[in-house]
Amino acid sequence: MIGISKLMIGAGEEEAILRVVRSGQLAMGAETHDVELAFAKRLGGVECIAVSNGTVAITLALAAMGVGPGDEVITTSFSFIGTIEPIIQLGATPIFADVDLASANMDIAGIESLITSRTKAILPVHLYGRPVDLAAIRDVASRYNIAVLEDACQAIGASDANTGEVGSSGTAVFSFYGSKNIACGEGGLVATDDPSIAERVRLLRSHGSIETYRHKMVGYNARMTDLQAAILRVQLDSLDDVTAGRRSNAAFYHDTIHNDAITLPVRNDETSASCFHQFTLRLASQADRDDLQAWALAHEVEARAYYPYALSSHPVVEDLGMSARCENAEALSNVVLSIPVRESLSDDERSHVADVVSSWEPQGS
Ligand SMILES: Cc1ncc(COP(=O)(O)O)c(C=O)c1O
Repeated sequence: MIGISKLMIGAGEEEAILRVVRSGQLAMGAETHDVELAFAKRLGGVECIAVSNGTVAITLALAAMGVGPGDEVITTSFSFIGTIEPIIQLGATPIFADVDLASANMDIAGIESLITSRTKAILPVHLYGRPVDLAAIRDVASRYNIAVLEDACQAIGASDANTGEVGSSGTAVFSFYGSKNIACGEGGLVATDDPSIAERVRLLRSHGSIETYRHKMVGYNARMTDLQAAILRVQLDSLDDVTAGRRSNAAFYHDTIHNDAITLPVRNDETSASCFHQFTLRLASQADRDDLQAWALAHEVEARAYYPYALSSHPVVEDLGMSARCENAEALSNVVLSIPVRESLSDDERSHVADVVSSWEPQGS
């Protein structure tokens, strides 16, 4: 089976783990500090705070922006649940914007009409690693004096002509969960060019502690361990190769998959460069999506729906009275299907994937 994700852990990570085990310091220490500095350097000097996972990175960043009970946060209707759990846990309400069908990212044109006196932040997601039009979102946000937090959990290494590499300006969060482009099992990072947000995130990460056993605010235990940090530091060195490999596989699919019943994702161009965390096809109907998925599996290619439900219509969201009708997100949830695009695919494997997808025919055609 050609899988969608494959953890690439090698001798470098093994050595790093041994170094940590032998150092006698497993909790947040020198390795965590090192990886933060390495990300800060890569992202052009923003402050980087490593935390235990991407969901908690969103929680800390929103809390640092002052999001709390009664506030509203405008976000996308199509993402992983980890995008909105922090909003709800902080006592705020997610307000769902519908998405653009082609990119699956938040539809910017719809944002302004969702702003109210309670809106505290906008939380766009760079879904599948495709940068959302951040300049346009920042423009709306600055006119209304609203914060912007980018959920870049899938977008490390992506870039946009107007705003540069994702995470190099503003405030963004990343995830390093096992299936991400670079990974350390569980891990997250807040990157910010705002020193006051950085300071609050640092405090919140470790029980609001200003010095040992002296606490300025009610915080969290959200620290990264040195084991995670040491793996992540090695993984970061491979980021450019990983991104180049995924982009090369995506370009290969764009050039070689020929099937009129399938819409391919947006191609990279000089304005926007996805890091292709996912390469996501769109079908004409749910029946076609399910049929192509079964066809792919029968030919030993893993294919999965990210995501089979719109965020705005999960049972928990409905139970909380926070659901919204977002037609494009609901439509996409029925017709999207991701195929393997990871950098570790061999030439034979990616050719096989392209052949399998090209040779599929919709039922009844
Ligand atoms: C878009 C998005 N947001 C949030 C998260 C949450 O990250 P984590 O799994 O590290 O908590 C993920 C990752 O799974 C994600 O893909």
